Amino acid sequence: MNTSNQAGNQQALIDPFGRRIEYLRLSVTDRCDLRCFYCLPKGYKDFTEPDTWLNFDEMERVIAAFTELGTRRIRLTGGEPLVRKNLPELAQRLASLPGLDDLSLSTNATQLGKHAQALRHAGVSRINVSLDSLQPERFRSITGGKLEKVLSGIKAARDAGLAPIKINMVVMKGVNDDEVEDMVAFCLEHGLTLRFIETMPMGDTGREASEHYVDLQTVKARLAQHYKLLPGVMPGGGPARYVQVEGTDLRIGFITPISQHFCETCNRVRLSAEGTLYMCLGQDHSFALRPLLRQGIGDDELKDVIREAIALKPEKHEFNEKPGQLVRFMSMTGG
Ligand code: GTP
Ligand code: 5AD
Ligand code: SF4
Repeated sequence: MNTSNQAGNQQALIDPFGRRIEYLRLSVTDRCDLRCFYCLPKGYKDFTEPDTWLNFDEMERVIAAFTELGTRRIRLTGGEPLVRKNLPELAQRLASLPGLDDLSLSTNATQLGKHAQALRHAGVSRINVSLDSLQPERFRSITGGKLEKVLSGIKAARDAGLAPIKINMVVMKGVNDDEVEDMVAFCLEHGLTLRFIETMPMGDTGREASEHYVDLQTVKARLAQHYKLLPGVMPGGGPARYVQVEGTDLRIGFITPISQHFCETCNRVRLSAEGTLYMCLGQDHSFALRPLLRQGIGDDELKDVIREAIALKPEKHEFNEKPGQLVRFMSMTGG
């Protein structure tokens, strides 16, 4: 429990289903330097314009309001967050907000070689990295990018002392599901945490990729044939459920929005680069803060408005019931 923010805790954000909202995912840009086929269409260029993005002052203001309302964890996301110029400056401003005790980043790691040190100095303590294949040709066909750059980015992050580093692998049948064991070996060798993710039908890209859907219970069963899997825990506030490989430090997390709903424990909302709060990854409920910020809304009013927004949070996603419902790509809200 966060004692440094007593006032905030007294007026904590509780949604209509009794869930405490204490984790904000802040997307700093919807742009990305990769084109993972399950996320963005090839050649996609229809991004929002930078002049529609919140500036760092505006972001800091919103995050300060959230921390005063008891939010303890902020995760910087994108698109690819490092595409946004001067990200370490923003990180530093957020890290010094009272009440915040977990500042993290989700990245594709292509630019970590350049920025890992600065991020660590700015106060980012831990990162999660997307990595779907360890085979250069396959990596290129999934993402359009160079594996080598990502691997050197991960190394730079380790050298900079970012820890833990969690690897996110979206497991897809006929695409990379034969690499599950290789990824385990890679994470064991390099002291990384591994998480497997089920494909979500977000946008046309996510829906097409869902043809390759793999129920992660089958992956777990497969791993259990080679390793003894014990119950595990990891620092972090997300939906992964962990096991630990006996005799090692390796933790493996399973993120199973399709096969095993975790919405009843949801603790988060998302703020897009354009300043819109999205109340659920899998639903359209949203609340635009930018116009209010630019009309000069006061601090107390801003907190009231955030409460109003939290009251809109739906009970759960409906990826299974209504797979065609969500038009926006994952890159808009950063997963
Ligand atoms: P920590 O546990 O704090 O390390 O972070 P995290 O796992 O929540 O963050 P990350 O950005 O690495 O997310 C990993 C995957 O989990 C992404 O593919 C997200 O889309 C998915 N995910 C995160 N939060 C939610 C959620 O609330 N609902 C659903 N359905 N998926 C989520
Ligand atoms: N389904 C599941 N995961 C996705 N990601 C992006 N699009 C999808 C999708 N349709 C993942 C990325 C990254 C995280 C932020 O979201 O691989 O690890
Ligand atoms: Fe970029 Fe992440 Fe989408 Fe891949 S999943 S295209 S890294 S935003």
